[in-house]
Amino acid sequence: MMRSGGMMLTYAPCFTFLTCALIVSSTANLDHSPQDLNIRQVTDNQNPISTTNLLLLGTTTELRFKSFIQKYEKSYSTHEEYVHRLGVFAKNFIRAAEHQAMDPTAIHGVTQFSDLTEEEFETMYMGLGGRGGTLLGKDPVDSAAAAAAKSTAMMDRATDLPESFDWREKGAVTNVKMQGRCGSCWAFSTTGAIEGANFIATGKLLNLSEQQLVDCDHKCDLKEKDACDDGCSGGLMTNAYNYLIEAGGIEEESTYPYTGKRGECKFNPDKVAVIVRSFTSIPVDESQIAANLVHNGPLAIGLNAVFMQTYIGGVSCPLICGKKHLNHGVLLVGYGSRGYSILRLGYKPYWIIKNSWGVHWGEHGYYRLCRGHNMCGMNSMVSAVGIQTS
Ligand SMILES: *[C@@H]1O[C@H](CO)[C@@H](O)[C@H](O)[C@H]1NC(C)=O
Repeated sequence: MMRSGGMMLTYAPCFTFLTCALIVSSTANLDHSPQDLNIRQVTDNQNPISTTNLLLLGTTTELRFKSFIQKYEKSYSTHEEYVHRLGVFAKNFIRAAEHQAMDPTAIHGVTQFSDLTEEEFETMYMGLGGRGGTLLGKDPVDSAAAAAAKSTAMMDRATDLPESFDWREKGAVTNVKMQGRCGSCWAFSTTGAIEGANFIATGKLLNLSEQQLVDCDHKCDLKEKDACDDGCSGGLMTNAYNYLIEAGGIEEESTYPYTGKRGECKFNPDKVAVIVRSFTSIPVDESQIAANLVHNGPLAIGLNAVFMQTYIGGVSCPLICGKKHLNHGVLLVGYGSRGYSILRLGYKPYWIIKNSWGVHWGEHGYYRLCRGHNMCGMNSMVSAVGIQTS
């Protein structure tokens, strides 16, 4: 198989390991095991029964916390846990206000993640899997490599693009899915790109199996040998394409359904629905990204999800958002031209991003991020996938 021939370029700046900015869903996994609680408590350096937290009992903060619990159907096994989570909630309430100040064109507030510390939200069970450390923080853009790739990569025509574009309207995007308490964003980003490519090639929209990737894909990055796909502990879309090229394809959700837990690999080659042939890393230039999106289909991207924990809606255009700390894999499905931004003085273009945190998060499961500023590093890990058509 001409695997390396299939990959059109390899400058993908994949020095980052996507841990998916943990979420706890309201619907999935309410059966917290005691072990989970321990882990989450030790990651927070606050005493679960601190006096500060006890002082919150009976305040308006607790009233807000109670309606949060009701809205998102949360349950805590002990009173200590309740008080601890109340303290976390109070801090997140302040953090949402800070995010609002930093990102005035979006709406930030209480979300289903408001009882998780920033560390829990971001790193999930990191360290539990014996992974020495993450690969975060390295510069994802090697400019020399990027420059070299630009000469070899096919530059897409970035002129004559429509003013706005949305693959959802064309039927190339499946419903918003829910990863649950599992750092499997990279698998959802991967299936999203393949679902789109398959729709464009065949006219058929299929739900593809993230669970196959969670259970069976242990591929490591060619350059960063520690960056291996690791079920609910994180992974990379480029690794997943390589796994799928070798495995022979991907099953549908219906034959290999999502459980949100790493299990034994049950991949059955006879049930392959889509065969992955190749993938391409897209240059970091946002007009190239737009051209590739329009011409090739939805694109898998990595970004820094720090503002997403409190995001409720609007165009997110934070004053400061680290471009190097990519921790979440999502799917770019379109763009628009007139999202209002006070900060950027006027109507500014934005990207439309499909997330995998269910429909109750963000704008019916979607995130809008302002375009043209390499915002939150969204330009630095972008890929398109090529499938086999018969
Ligand atoms: C994908 O799965 C969801 C949830 O089961 C379902 O509602 C939706 O119709 C499916 N989409 C396609 C294209 O099969």
